[in-house]
Amino acid sequence: MIFNWLVKQPIKINRSRGRAVFSCFLVLIFTRTQVSLTKTKSMSLTAFITGATSGIGKATAELFAKNQIRLVLCGRRKERLDELHQKLGKLTEVTTLQFDVRNKEEVFSAIQSLPEKFSDIDILLNVAGNAHGLSTIQDGDVDDWDAMIDINVKGLLYVSKAIIPKMTKKNKGFIVNIGSIAGKEVYPNGNVYCASKYAVNALNKAMRIDLNNYNIRVSAIHPGAVETEFSEVRFKGDTEKAKSVYAGYKALQAEDIADIIHFVVTRPYHVNIEDLIVYPTAQASATIMNKN
Ligand SMILES: NC(=O)c1ccc[n+]([C@@H]2O[C@H](COP(=O)([O-])OP(=O)(O)OC[C@H]3O[C@@H](n4cnc5c(N)ncnc54)[C@H](OP(=O)(O)O)[C@@H]3O)[C@@H](O)[C@H]2O)c1
Repeated sequence: MIFNWLVKQPIKINRSRGRAVFSCFLVLIFTRTQVSLTKTKSMSLTAFITGATSGIGKATAELFAKNQIRLVLCGRRKERLDELHQKLGKLTEVTTLQFDVRNKEEVFSAIQSLPEKFSDIDILLNVAGNAHGLSTIQDGDVDDWDAMIDINVKGLLYVSKAIIPKMTKKNKGFIVNIGSIAGKEVYPNGNVYCASKYAVNALNKAMRIDLNNYNIRVSAIHPGAVETEFSEVRFKGDTEKAKSVYAGYKALQAEDIADIIHFVVTRPYHVNIEDLIVYPTAQASATIMNKN
């Protein structure tokens, strides 16, 4: 088209402008070729993301969709799953599964119900999880403890158990577990949340060891403070308290972690990043924060 236009307008265009337009034309052809190559490469990948309705999981789903990775998006909130399906479905192939990771039967039957096109999972992102409450061990609420152990540890195990056979069968796959700095360092009042993330840290290592013979890559990302709905959940909908967690400094954004997850999963297949700890610059440890 540009070429035809150039040919038709020899008098109006001086030489340097013509050269510029022709260069644009070449860049356009080059970019289109690159895009179509990436598309072919990524479209053959299918990612299964738990916790896709919010925060880190959602940002990762959005980034993966831009990179034409086929998506299975999971969470409990159906309206959010539908919204994402509609939005990201314009960029890649998407299906959604609504289930509670605490419910063993739901987890297995949802994963079994996957349409064939989505059932060959290449990447499992275990993101679903939250902190519930922040109090001393003596004042802790046992329902909060149940929630954290059931979601962050048992939920991650159920989902992994349902998906791993798909990977061992083909001797290939990638599992990325979202841990936390709480799984590296215990902080005051963090007790059971920290214990649940220490468990994720241990399971990440265990998976890599046990799946080693199957050529399966296993990685964990351990973020510091990320500004998501995390604190709203921790403080049971107290938005003011939740906001105060991120006041006075620049917290990590969900997109920062998504970017890192994408980097980790797009390394050449012989490269396996075991473990990454990521802080906002203002944070030096679980308890040291440089706030204004
Ligand atoms: N934000 C931080 O500062 C931070 C720091 C370190 C680690 N992390 C970890 O990062 C992960 C993601 O957290 P986030 O910060 O993105 O928080 P978020 O915005 O609250 O997202 C949590 C996600 O987990 C899902 N989820 C929670 N309980 C579930 C359940 N019972 N069944 C199924 N899905 C469930 C939620 O979906 P539904 O509610 O729709 O089910 C939501 O999509 C968690 O594992 C968290 O521990 C967060």
